[in-house]
Amino acid sequence: MAAPMVERGEDAFRTLFKFYRRKHPPPDLSNVLDFSKGIVCDKVLSTNLEVSAVSDGEASRAGLRPVRDWRAFGLQGCPGFIFIANPFLRGSQPHWLRRCLKTYTQKPNVCNLDMHMSPNETDDIWGKSADTLRRVPCGKKEPKTLLEKLRWVTLGYHYNWNTKTYSPEHHTPFPADLQRLSGLVAAAAGFPGFNAEAGILNYYRFDSSLGIHVDESELDLSRPLLSFCFGQSAIFLLGGPRREDPPTAMYMHSGDVMVMSGQSRLLYHAVPRILQDPPPPCSLGTSLSRGQGSPERGVSGEGGVDGEDWAVCSRYIQSSRVNMTVRQVLGPGQSFPGVPKGSAPDAEGGGEGGGQKRRRSSSGGTESSDT
Ligand code: OGA
Ligand code: MN
Repeated sequence: MAAPMVERGEDAFRTLFKFYRRKHPPPDLSNVLDFSKGIVCDKVLSTNLEVSAVSDGEASRAGLRPVRDWRAFGLQGCPGFIFIANPFLRGSQPHWLRRCLKTYTQKPNVCNLDMHMSPNETDDIWGKSADTLRRVPCGKKEPKTLLEKLRWVTLGYHYNWNTKTYSPEHHTPFPADLQRLSGLVAAAAGFPGFNAEAGILNYYRFDSSLGIHVDESELDLSRPLLSFCFGQSAIFLLGGPRREDPPTAMYMHSGDVMVMSGQSRLLYHAVPRILQDPPPPCSLGTSLSRGQGSPERGVSGEGGVDGEDWAVCSRYIQSSRVNMTVRQVLGPGQSFPGVPKGSAPDAEGGGEGGGQKRRRSSSGGTESSDT
C-alpha cells in the first residue's frame, strides 16, 4: 500500500508515523527520500557549506572528509534543515561507534539503566557485555546483555526526562572529542562558535521508535541541533511547526549527519522505524565496515578500533542503530534563570570523564511498544 495521502489535518503526523511503524503489511517505502542518491525530486535542494570554516587537517582528525567533498542538501519548506550525506572518512565510523558503546556509556554519564539498577551494576556496561556479544553467533538469541538493554545516555547537561529541562546542578564534563566534531560540523553549516553542552544518545533495536516531538528545552534556540547516525538505517519524519502539518519521510543511513537550525530547529520530528540494512550478515559489508584490507583509521589521536573491540561493535550494530544528538543549551554569556552569570560549570571538560515535547516514557529513551 502506498503512503497515505495525508491531508493537512489533526493527526497528519501521527497517521504517517503509524504508517511507517506498521509491521504487517510492511509499508511502501517509495515516498521515502534517499539523500544518498542525490537530488531525486524538486523537494530536495542542494545546500552550500562554509568550505573554508574547517581545514582539511581538522576535519581529518575528527574522522571527516574535507568539507568541499561533503554532499549537503536542504528540503523545500524547511529552511535551516541541512542533511549531510555521510561526511565521514572511510573507516572512521567505527571510532565513533566504539565511543558510543564503550566510552560514553561510562560514569559520570547517565543512562536509562541507572533508573532501576545500582551504580555497581551499571558501572561497566561495555565490560559486562563484551564477552557475550563476541561469542553469540549471528542471528542467535541469548539473554540480553546490558549493551542491548541500553536505550539512552545523556552527556554534559543531563536532560531530565520528567521535567524536560536541563539544570546547572546536573552537569558533568562533555566529551572533548565529540565537542570538537560538533564544532566542526556546526562551523561548516554556518554556525561558528558552537559550544556542545548537552548530548542525548539514543540506542535503537529493530522494534524501537522515537515518538513525535520538538526539541525546545535548550535556552538558546538560535543555536543548531546536530544529529549523527550510526548502524542500521532508519526512517526519519520531519514535519512542520504544527502536528497537523504532514511530515516528509527520509532515510537516515550510517554516517549521515543532520543539522536543524533556523526555522527547522522547532519542527516536529520522529523516528518511526529502524530498517535492516541489506546485506547485513556476518560479513558486515555496510558503510560502517572498517574496510577490508585497509588499516583502520585512527581518529582524535587514537589508534584505530582493534579487532577485539570491533568484534563487539560489529555484532552489536548488526541489529542496532545509534544516534547522537548534540545541543548547545546556553547562548554566549547566558546563564540558567536564577544563576548569576559566570557561575555555570565548565562545559568544556578537557577530559573524557566522561520543551522538548518528547513523547517518551517518563524514563525517556526510545520506545519498543506498538503505537
Ligand atoms: C532526539 C532525536 C533522532 C534520532 O534525540 O531528539 O530527535 O535519530 N533523535 O535518534
Ligand atoms: Mn529530536
